[in-house]
Amino acid sequence: MPDTTRRWVLARHVEGAPTPEDFRLEETPLGELADGRFLSRVILGSVDPGTRSRLSGGDSYAGAMKIGEGIDGFCVAEVIESNNPNYAVGDLIAAGGGWREHFVSDGRGFIQKITDRRVPLGCWIGILGVPGLTAWFGMNRVAQAKAGETLLVTSAAGPVGATAGQIGKKLGMRVVGIAGGPKKCAWLKDEAGFDAVIDYKAEPDLTAAIKAACPEGVDVLFDNVGNEMVDRVLPLMKLRGRVVVSGQVADYNVEPQDRVGLKNTSVFITHRVRMEGLVVFDDIRQFGAAQAQMADWIADGSLKFAIEEFDGLESAAEAFCGLFRGENFGRRLVRVSQDPAA
Ligand SMILES: NC(=O)c1ccc[n+]([C@@H]2O[C@H](COP(=O)([O-])OP(=O)(O)OC[C@H]3O[C@@H](n4cnc5c(N)ncnc54)[C@H](OP(=O)(O)O)[C@@H]3O)[C@@H](O)[C@H]2O)c1
Repeated sequence: MPDTTRRWVLARHVEGAPTPEDFRLEETPLGELADGRFLSRVILGSVDPGTRSRLSGGDSYAGAMKIGEGIDGFCVAEVIESNNPNYAVGDLIAAGGGWREHFVSDGRGFIQKITDRRVPLGCWIGILGVPGLTAWFGMNRVAQAKAGETLLVTSAAGPVGATAGQIGKKLGMRVVGIAGGPKKCAWLKDEAGFDAVIDYKAEPDLTAAIKAACPEGVDVLFDNVGNEMVDRVLPLMKLRGRVVVSGQVADYNVEPQDRVGLKNTSVFITHRVRMEGLVVFDDIRQFGAAQAQMADWIADGSLKFAIEEFDGLESAAEAFCGLFRGENFGRRLVRVSQDPAA
């Protein structure tokens, strides 16, 4: 067992867009492995836009982080020492280990054993992990999406948005995505099978472009971006339309008092529109069934994903900051050590 490991901590509370200087990489002791605990070696770690909501010191549904606290993230890891009868050396797990090289766990919290190796390991913290599951439960439980409806997805090329759109296609919907830049838009149409895509960075009149792409209106808005986008789409919502509030990536870097407020709210009355957010862990008991279905779709090639790997734990802060500049193409992961099967 190593005496120490390296991890990223919060160096200062973040104002506006995050920068690498907001984080610090430090060496930290691991201590003795007490009874009931096990030690894991991180193979791949994730950087997640939602982490930003915890970094300013203000309120967040997941709780604000303190300076010096280790940064959140999901990881795929290998158990390398164990005093816990439920986890054996060599087990591969997906867990919430954070941006670090090793972590000790008592087996509580979010930990899943990875037994299905048909798909790349990174999928277990991507399309089969929290992003894919957010899409699955957002589409199925919250939106109750149906064949023949029109789905509009924002930040459509991200791991949540791309999965939501493809689930929509599998349900028989007409799917329109909004994403930034020609590379992301081409992937959504050519690989992920979206019916129409809007490059919001190239559109002088985004509202007109959304209207043109959704001429009959929108039944389901799956929103990852935030209030400004939602307010733009609200007038286009159809009778009994649903707005799924998945994420607010455009708002995370903006102080609450400076965020755009919703104005077009009369549609909630006139069109009986429903707007509902989700926290993916509310559906944790159903994760297994959703993952089994999506793993089958990945294995048969009908569910597409993109993974972008950064090399080395040192790159985690930079990988995270790039999410807010639209630099990620799909799920951004940090390679911390090698897959034992590689
Ligand atoms: N509710 C839940 O339980 C839950 C769970 C997981 C994730 N989420 C949320 O789901 C959303 C999507 O997550 P993800 O992992 O798939 O990440 P993602 O969509 O890849 O997020 C990064 C992307 O967001 C877009 N973006 C960044 N800043 C923006 C801005 N100011 N305006 C518009 N777009 C901006 C960029 O794409 P473009 O280049 O296309 O602009 C960027 O590449 C996030 O908001 C996340 O917090 C929610």
